Amino acid sequence: MSSLRVRDLSKVFGPRPQRALDLMHEGLSRAEILQRTGQLLAVAEVDLDIDEGELFVIMGLSGSGKSTVIRMLNRLIEPSAGTVELDGERIDQLGPAKLRELRQRKLSMVFQHFALFPHRTVGENAAYGLKVQGVDEDERRRRATEALETVGLADRSDAYPEELSGGMQQRVGLARGLATEADVLLMDEPFSALDPLIRRDMQDLLAKLQAELSRTIVFITHDLNEAMRLGDRICVLKDGRVVQVGTGPEIIDNPANAYVADFVSDVDRSRVLTAEQVMRAPRRTFRRTDRPELVLDWLEEQEYNGAYVLDDDGRILGVARDDRLARARRDSSGGVGHLLVDDFARAGRDTLLSDLAGMAAHHTVPIAVTDDEGRLLGVVPRARLLAALSNEEADVDA
Ligand SMILES: Nc1ncnc2c1ncn2[C@@H]1O[C@H](COP(=O)(O)OP(=O)(O)O)[C@@H](O)[C@H]1O
Ligand SMILES: [Mg+2]
Repeated sequence: MSSLRVRDLSKVFGPRPQRALDLMHEGLSRAEILQRTGQLLAVAEVDLDIDEGELFVIMGLSGSGKSTVIRMLNRLIEPSAGTVELDGERIDQLGPAKLRELRQRKLSMVFQHFALFPHRTVGENAAYGLKVQGVDEDERRRRATEALETVGLADRSDAYPEELSGGMQQRVGLARGLATEADVLLMDEPFSALDPLIRRDMQDLLAKLQAELSRTIVFITHDLNEAMRLGDRICVLKDGRVVQVGTGPEIIDNPANAYVADFVSDVDRSRVLTAEQVMRAPRRTFRRTDRPELVLDWLEEQEYNGAYVLDDDGRILGVARDDRLARARRDSSGGVGHLLVDDFARAGRDTLLSDLAGMAAHHTVPIAVTDDEGRLLGVVPRARLLAALSNEEADVDA
């Protein structure tokens, strides 16, 4: 089910928006429209489908229209044209009372800055958004405590902000945002003012919380690495228009145009690309009943030192390694099943290349990529990993 559905959303800042919209429909650019009408087409014909539970990132340079888009979602800015639907309800048609309720309960902007009130306790700070929403005191306390638990600060509820480290204060701010009951949280560059270490910490925390709570979050950033770290999907905006929507790896592997390609050219690939994207099928696997000679001959021919041995369901039983096979060939009895060693590294589909890099060094065979049941999906040889990390095409013959 699609939670937020946006169609043809446009915004003109100026007294005669229709004139600018007409020119937009004729295909004129933002700059041309500005020149002809003196009006700024901040957002142009944006379509978005944001899924329930998704952390959806809107990314673009300053002035690309990010804040205008997110503010039109809950009509802090009135759209000039287009529609916004939340679970089938037309937000662009709500009256004032319904709109207020919507902002409190369904589509709320998380505080832009995580600054805390110095004279209120951590608990009171965490509950502040709820107070504004008119939630009663017991409920406020309960939910604030819950939110503080999720950021690991439940035991500091009675402390004052100045008694906490800067990083902890930021966590309280995030807890405050999460304590609100809204289905969809709107976050407009919430971490951009933070120093890099705390920022990293907050990104990790948000990713973790999102994995646990699966709120729908629309998150704005101008920082590509932040977008890649956090976003289930990323929407790239340029001059008010959507140029591409996709997962981080999709955008990196397949940029929609030169603009996006340029944008992503300096991204840290190791923190975006996953094992699934660089693995290849194993050249050959063996069964436990295969004779050592057979495996050894193949290894010699390939100049490999070991091979995976799988059970009937494709799960890894172990590695048949040349030295053990060679010794066993002399006393030659039965299959390789009793000769296997545990000499391999295992990764999941979603393991990041940065994590694969640490696993690659010490084993005879390429890293195994397995599914949840332990079945072998593919392998990542070291050369292939290094090629992917160094920004070459990952289809090298490794
Ligand atoms: N209230 C406003 N009046 C006139 N122009 C505005 C207003 N708000 C934003 N703009 C302009 O609209 C464009 C998009 O702004 P904004 O949505 O804030 O971009 P971003 O958040 O991506 O930096 C910018 O050129 C900005 O100057
Ligand atoms: Mg902005």
